[in-house]
Amino acid sequence: MWGVFMNALKWLWGYVKKYKISMFSVLIVTALFIVTAFVIPIVTGEIVGYITNENPNKNQSDLFFYIGLMLGGVIFKEILVYTRAMLLENMSQNTIKNIRTNLYGKLQSLDCSYFDKTRKGDIMSRLTMDADTVRIVIASTIPNLIDSLFFICVGFVVMFGTNALLTLLLLSMAPFIAVLAYFLSKYVKRTFVDIRESNAELNTVVAENISGNRVVKAYAREEFEIEKFEKKNKKYSNAHMSYVYTWAKYAPPMIFFVHMTNFIFIFVGGILVINQKISIADFTVFNGCLWCITSPMMAVGDFINQFQQFNASSLKIRHLEEEEPLVKNNNVQKRDTGLTGKIQFKNVTFAYEGDRVLKNINFSANPGDTIAIIGPTGSGKSSLINLLARFYDPTYGTIYLDDVNLKNIDLKTVHQNIASAMQDVFLFSDTIKNNIAYGAPNATYEDVIRVAKLADAHDFISKLEDGYDTMVGERGVGLSGGQRQRISLARALLKNPSILVLDDTTSALDMETEFSIQENLKLAKQTKIIIAHRISSVKNADLILVLNQGNLVEWGTHDELMALDGYYKGVFEHQFGDFTKAPKYHIQHPAFVDLTNAGGEK
Ligand SMILES: Nc1ncnc2c1ncn2[C@@H]1O[C@H](COP(=O)(O)OP(=O)(O)OP(=O)(O)O)[C@@H](O)[C@H]1O
Ligand SMILES: [Mg+2]
Repeated sequence: MWGVFMNALKWLWGYVKKYKISMFSVLIVTALFIVTAFVIPIVTGEIVGYITNENPNKNQSDLFFYIGLMLGGVIFKEILVYTRAMLLENMSQNTIKNIRTNLYGKLQSLDCSYFDKTRKGDIMSRLTMDADTVRIVIASTIPNLIDSLFFICVGFVVMFGTNALLTLLLLSMAPFIAVLAYFLSKYVKRTFVDIRESNAELNTVVAENISGNRVVKAYAREEFEIEKFEKKNKKYSNAHMSYVYTWAKYAPPMIFFVHMTNFIFIFVGGILVINQKISIADFTVFNGCLWCITSPMMAVGDFINQFQQFNASSLKIRHLEEEEPLVKNNNVQKRDTGLTGKIQFKNVTFAYEGDRVLKNINFSANPGDTIAIIGPTGSGKSSLINLLARFYDPTYGTIYLDDVNLKNIDLKTVHQNIASAMQDVFLFSDTIKNNIAYGAPNATYEDVIRVAKLADAHDFISKLEDGYDTMVGERGVGLSGGQRQRISLARALLKNPSILVLDDTTSALDMETEFSIQENLKLAKQTKIIIAHRISSVKNADLILVLNQGNLVEWGTHDELMALDGYYKGVFEHQFGDFTKAPKYHIQHPAFVDLTNAGGEK
């Protein structure tokens, strides 16, 4: 446990070390604060000594001096408290701001496989709840601990100097408190891990519910969703209660021993005063300094809580910081000039985790070609283009762009040269113009309008009240499925890539609109990969790849495939050219063949 804590502190030091001047100022202010804090009990002792001594020259106005000193001390102390709080707040806020920036940067660098396996709520908790726990440790726990240690040391010296026996007697309660603190620390740790876990689960349910609110309403599942939320809500609340129970088991006995210290002081101190072993003035100083020992003792439980929460949170944050993308960007070539758009898949096999979803895929495309990928749902079409954009790496085999292994091309270069209109259209909470210009932030209005026209989106955008400045929601709420697809297509076109990927981009459009877009795209000179379910959408492609259950079963132009009289032709004739209605079957895996200019069958 100690090791975990030290590692957490070491990690934190990495962030706070750049605030050395602030830390040094905090230390100076703290030292002054501690000294000032002792002025008050010492002056009180002086006043009592002055009042109770037998000096005949006593003068009432001398009291004003002491009161003035005390008042000055109190005001100065409060100024120091304020200054220190400001310094600490500044430092802690800056630190967690840097932690959040770092985590956000890390998230941008991680690949799709991380987001496949990580819950949204988990990531949100790290950036909010966990970061805030770290802030509390910097702004309050560590400074309070330093105060406490100082107070114990200085208080001990003052009290020991006043009366050694009484001081040691008071410290005799410390071992009992230490044992209880050990058990509290041990058991409370687990509860904090549970609290964090259930908080992440709760966040996930809420985040999903917000994204999926239309599905919930459409299926009238509100009750079910409330029930689901209640389960997580209860779990979260139970996790907190289990912390409270643990706390309740150990904290009251600890407080009891702290109070015992006060009782022992009054009892033994009273006897010593009665027997004139110590003066009333010393008794007063002792009384004033007693909190130097008791308040840190009272705070032990809080320190343990906050440090254990910090342990749990910093561990979560560090796990995210240490996360490494599976898609590496090492030993890569940067290309300033664009790629030409030549693509080659050689014996590519891919599995997300267990099952292979693409099996030994081979094909190639020359710059400017239109490649169509067609096949039933789940056959691996989107997976294939995920590999091309390097969202994932193939399990076996190699993909080449411009005859260079994709793994050896800088990821930024790859992403700059490939523009995808994805199947699952995502629009940011921003204007239509900014959504279209997402990949080309410097584009002018004219550029945006030009691509919107190519994507057959200009007419409907112009009819909206705010035109291109219309705000759209996270998922493009307020727009139809076909409208969102066309905005997404315009976004891809504006990037002017060497490879344009359209994943089911025209599926929600009527035949006429689809045809007009296809005509527009014919003019584009880039290599195009068009995924579709309907044969009518891809008939004119230079090469049609037919996928079934992860296998490339047939390939060629429309005429070649019709001549083959196989699967493709069967679908064309019997299923109205729609692959969602096609049967599935298995085939053997072939060796690599260059398919650029040849039709064929496996
Ligand atoms: N992120 C993922 N993690 C695990 N498995 C996945 C993931 N994405 C897809 N799959 C699986 O991979 C297989 C192929 O999916 P893919 O999305 O490539 O199909 P598709 O041909 O694009 O289908 P559709 O026409 O419905 O879009 C499916 O069995 C699917 O369940
Ligand atoms: Mg798909």
